[in-house]
Amino acid sequence: MLEWKRSRKILLCVTGGIAAYKIPDLVSRLRKLDCEVEIVLTKAAESIVSPLALSTLSGRRAWLQDDFLSDKRGFEIPHIHLADWAEVVVVAPCSAETASGLAQGRAESVVAAALLATRAPVVLFPAMNVHMFEHPATQQNLRILAERGVRVVDPEFGSLACGYEGKGRLPETALILEEIAYALSPRRNLAGRHVLVTAGPTREYLDPVRFISNPSTGKMGMAMARTAWYRGAEVRVVLGPAPRVGSTHGLEVHDVVSALAMRDAVMENLEWAGCVVKAAAVGDYRSEERVEHKIKREKKDSLTFSLVQNPDIAAEVGKNRRAGQFLIGFAAETDDLVQNARAKMARKGLDLMVANDVSAPGSGFGADTNTVRIISDDDETQFSGSKEAVADAVWEAAVRRWLP
Ligand code: PMT
Repeated sequence: MLEWKRSRKILLCVTGGIAAYKIPDLVSRLRKLDCEVEIVLTKAAESIVSPLALSTLSGRRAWLQDDFLSDKRGFEIPHIHLADWAEVVVVAPCSAETASGLAQGRAESVVAAALLATRAPVVLFPAMNVHMFEHPATQQNLRILAERGVRVVDPEFGSLACGYEGKGRLPETALILEEIAYALSPRRNLAGRHVLVTAGPTREYLDPVRFISNPSTGKMGMAMARTAWYRGAEVRVVLGPAPRVGSTHGLEVHDVVSALAMRDAVMENLEWAGCVVKAAAVGDYRSEERVEHKIKREKKDSLTFSLVQNPDIAAEVGKNRRAGQFLIGFAAETDDLVQNARAKMARKGLDLMVANDVSAPGSGFGADTNTVRIISDDDETQFSGSKEAVADAVWEAAVRRWLP
C-alpha cells in the first residue's frame, strides 16, 4: 500500500440513484485506509440510503439537504467549509439531475453548491437507467463536465435496478477506490507516456493437462502497471496465467499463456511502448514436442522430455529498441544478487535492473512485499516494502533517468 493513499480527506456526495445503497461499503473501505470522509446527501439520496448508517460508518454526522443555508451549525456554512476541506470530491452515484445541475452551474443544494465551490479534483460516477444515461442531454452534460476537467467515470454494463440491461451500473467499490487513488496521486510525471509491462508466469504445456511453470503471481508486475497509471501513463500489460489480484482498472490487459505467446504480444506492442518493464517470470524452456492427448501412466515407469530454449524476450527487446525507449528488467536471484543482476542487465541491454532476492523471506514470488536492489549504470539502492511501494520506488529511479 502506498502511504499517500492513507489519511486523505474525502468529500463524498451521494445523489439520487438506487446504487446509493452500495455507498456504505465504500465509506467503510475508505475508513480502513484511515481516510476522513465527509458525506453529503441530496434529498433523493436520503430516501435510498440511511444517513444514520453513513454517519455511523464515517464517524461523522452526514450533511443533509436541510443543512443548506441553515443556522443549525451556527455561522458555519457547510458547502464552503466542505469544499475547502476536501482533497478530492467524489459523486457516487451521480444522478442525471446532479450532472445537469453542475453543468449549468446551479447551486440549490449542499451537494450542488459544494461542487461549485470546490477547487479539489472532482470525480463523478454516473449511474442510472440506460436510456437516461444515453439521452443526448445527459451525454452533453457529462461531456461539458469532462471538458472542464471533471473526471467522469463511465458506468458499467449489466442488469439495472429498473429491470433494464445496459450501461448504467455503479462500478464496484474496488474500481471507485482506484479512481480516488488516481485523483489523489501526488505525481503525474508519466502523463502522455506509453508503458508496456509483462507480469506473471508463463506455462509450457507438456500435454493438454500438464505444464512447466513457476510460482509467479503477477503481483509485482501489476504493481508496476498500476503505479505507472497513477503517474498518468497509458499502460498495457501482457499477463501470464495468474489470477488477477487487485484492480486492473485503467490497464489494458493482454492475457497470454506461453513464453512464445508473451514474446509475440510484446513484439506487437513494442513500437507503441515508450518504456518496457519486464517483470514476468518467463519460462526459459519448453518441451520440444507438445503431445496432443493426455499422457497415460500405464506401462510407463518414467518419462523423458527434451526441452528447448524459449526466446529471451528482454534481450530481443534490448536488441530492437528504438531511440528514447527505456527498458526495465527484473532479475530473480538466489545468490550473488547484484553481480548476476548486473550481468543480465548488460547482456539484455537494459537501462535499469531490479534485482530481486527471491530466497529472502517476504520477498519475491507470491509475497505481498518485496526487497530489491534498483540498479543502474551509476547507482544502486536497496528498497523494501509492499510491492506497490517498491514499484513506485522503481518509477522514481526510472523517471530520473528516462525523462531527466
Ligand atoms: O509475480 P510475483 O509473484 O509478484 O513475483 C515477482 C517476481 C519474483 C516474478 C518478479 O519480481 C521478478 O523477479 N521477475 C523476473 C523473474 C525472472 O524471470 O527473472 P530472470 O532473472 O530469469 O530474468 C531476467 C529478465 O529477463 C526478466 O526481466 C525476465 O522477464 C526476462 N526474461 C527472462 C527469460 C526469458 N526467456 N525472457 C525474458 O524476457
